[in-house]
Amino acid sequence: MTQDEMKKAVAHAALAHVVDGKIVGVGTGSTANCFIDALAAIKHRIGGAVASSEATRQRLASHGIAVFDLDEVEELPVYVDGADEINAAMQMIKGGGGALTREKIVAAVARKFVCIADGSKLVPVLGRFPLPVEVIPMALGHVRRELAKIGGTPLRRAGFVTDNGNLIVDVGGLPIADPVELETRINQIVGVVTNGLFACRPADVCLLGTADGVRTLTAA
Ligand code: A5P
Repeated sequence: MTQDEMKKAVAHAALAHVVDGKIVGVGTGSTANCFIDALAAIKHRIGGAVASSEATRQRLASHGIAVFDLDEVEELPVYVDGADEINAAMQMIKGGGGALTREKIVAAVARKFVCIADGSKLVPVLGRFPLPVEVIPMALGHVRRELAKIGGTPLRRAGFVTDNGNLIVDVGGLPIADPVELETRINQIVGVVTNGLFACRPADVCLLGTADGVRTLTAA
């Protein structure tokens, strides 16, 4: 299977986690886009969707899927999203598309987080992918200095503004021995909105695309 075929296969497999008559949380990115396209085929069975970005909102709407604000929704049985990296503990780095804050909010509300990813995303240790951090613009200099003290190399994502009107700093070279500790620590820096470590709230299940088909992984 090619990488694209893997993305389509895991997106289709994720439909089995969608609860009939309920709202589904939908992530952002190329794999999440495959899920949105698959979801369109069963849109009559769901109550609608909550989007983790404006791009996702638009793609859902283009398929005629009703999109609700998170605050309008009383329960969210499942959230389906991709990842930039995922480890055996189902902890992830996310935010390659810059939607990390809204993704983290929707994931926090959802009862179940289903990560859909092609096989290249499974890593023994998180951190080869530069960690995205969403930053309030006036705090950029301060946040970059604090991230450098932790040992990372922070680079402002050029020409990018998040759906929330903020900036993204991509942090390379960070030692991520303890993802929960690092997620918490970076979120303590004044001016950080959130960071792309999803370790305090990991995925509950990962549908991983491999050459042999879709593997279902849960925390080791
Ligand atoms: C969006 O901000 C990200 O968190 C994506 O979920 C992540 O980058 C995975 O994207 P792809 O499915 O495009 O690899």
